[in-house]
Amino acid sequence: MDLIIKNGTIVTAEATFKGDIAVKDGKIKAIGAKLDPKGHKEATVVDAKGLLVLPGAIDGHTHLEMPFGGTISADSYEAGTRAAACGGTTTVFDFVLQDFGENLVDAVKRRDALCAPQACVDYAFHTGVKDLSGDLIESMEQSVKFGVSSFKVFMVYDFGVTDGLFYQVLRKAKEVGALIGVHAENKEIIDTLIAEFKAEGKTSAWYHYASRPEFVEGEADFRAIQWAKSLNAPLYIVHLANAQGMEEVTKARDEGYPIFAETCPQYLYFTNEVYKREDGRNFVCSPPMKGKASQDALWEGIKRGDITTIATDHCPFQSYEKDWGKDDFTKIPNGCAGIENMFPYMLSEANKGRITFNKAVELCCTNPAKLFGCAPQKGMLVPGADADIVLYDPKKEFTVSVNNMHSDYDHTIWEGVKLKGYPVATYSRGKLVYKDGEFVGKKGDGKFVKCKPVRHKTPNL
Ligand code: URP
Ligand code: ZN
Ligand code: ZN
Repeated sequence: MDLIIKNGTIVTAEATFKGDIAVKDGKIKAIGAKLDPKGHKEATVVDAKGLLVLPGAIDGHTHLEMPFGGTISADSYEAGTRAAACGGTTTVFDFVLQDFGENLVDAVKRRDALCAPQACVDYAFHTGVKDLSGDLIESMEQSVKFGVSSFKVFMVYDFGVTDGLFYQVLRKAKEVGALIGVHAENKEIIDTLIAEFKAEGKTSAWYHYASRPEFVEGEADFRAIQWAKSLNAPLYIVHLANAQGMEEVTKARDEGYPIFAETCPQYLYFTNEVYKREDGRNFVCSPPMKGKASQDALWEGIKRGDITTIATDHCPFQSYEKDWGKDDFTKIPNGCAGIENMFPYMLSEANKGRITFNKAVELCCTNPAKLFGCAPQKGMLVPGADADIVLYDPKKEFTVSVNNMHSDYDHTIWEGVKLKGYPVATYSRGKLVYKDGEFVGKKGDGKFVKCKPVRHKTPNL
């Protein structure tokens, strides 16, 4: 053995038990009560007494060094994956944005060339689809065979897809074993409201929310779900932030359709009140934070099992870039930081009793692996899985500050947030990459995780 983690409390999505984990060649070799380290003199033995032993988290939604909003998001692949490691996240699904006319496999290879030399933890991709004209739609199948089996369509932004293309993509995805994620908001209504607010001189960050209120997202969720239902195709609503959409997801799942939803820590912690703050522009992301009723509906959805994953939508920008929109909210690059905060925040909520630790593991580790086709390699503590392991001290008090994060951005929306418990060590394929506040891994060590085709036919994974 190379590594034996002893005396910890092992937490999986299903169970909590005292036990030891043995690791060999980057894989979990055995899990059991009192594995004997004597026969493994060469192994590093770690005493995890008093700690929880968890699978590394999977962040299913990040935008690292992505050209967007007139600039490039502030975390490079190196900085973003370094920060991920320090927050207990050992696999990052980043978004490739297809160029117009580009084959989807070429798009992935283009991003991988940038990511591979920098990655500090393992990574996979979803591809944001812009153009499937001519025979480009066939490259969806090529992409699935290449190991990227999930795509995102945007109903907003200047590269958003038409309803017709969205429908075609859903149909093709079902045929080739892919999952479609959707950014659901109504672009026409947003554009109309923005024009009206600007004409009235209403340009503060609050009007970012006011131009994208609850129903703008909810009715787009409803439409997207109707199209997926009509094809019985799986659909994944990313960054769900509103109560009406939550209701539609629940309804479709109760009817037996393979509809899945992701929400993000920022929607679970902040409300639209943040847009009234002096630094409100720093919280501008799309969809925006919503009212308390929506936040409560998301927490209820988590408890009911109708939210399948938590991910961050990590897309930070520097303060000077956010400041472009000081006097005009439409000039604020959309996106916020979160890659290092997701697992600690969800575990802290578990530690405070809002959900169980098993639920936090299900949402942040096991479900994304099952949903995106990388289980049981990722997201689980089982023999044969990659030894992506987090040691978590439930007694450690932690206050988030930009000064104790490991990204390249210069501010965080999580500044000053107090967490109960915190990760103290992260192992990526058996190798220590984070210990007691410090990144101890190496850039370039992260590997591309190729995902299998996914053929979800019911809401159960
Ligand atoms: O504001 C956000 N969410 N920026 C990143 C792009 C997206 O829509 O996911
Ligand atoms: Zn989006
Ligand atoms: Zn996003």
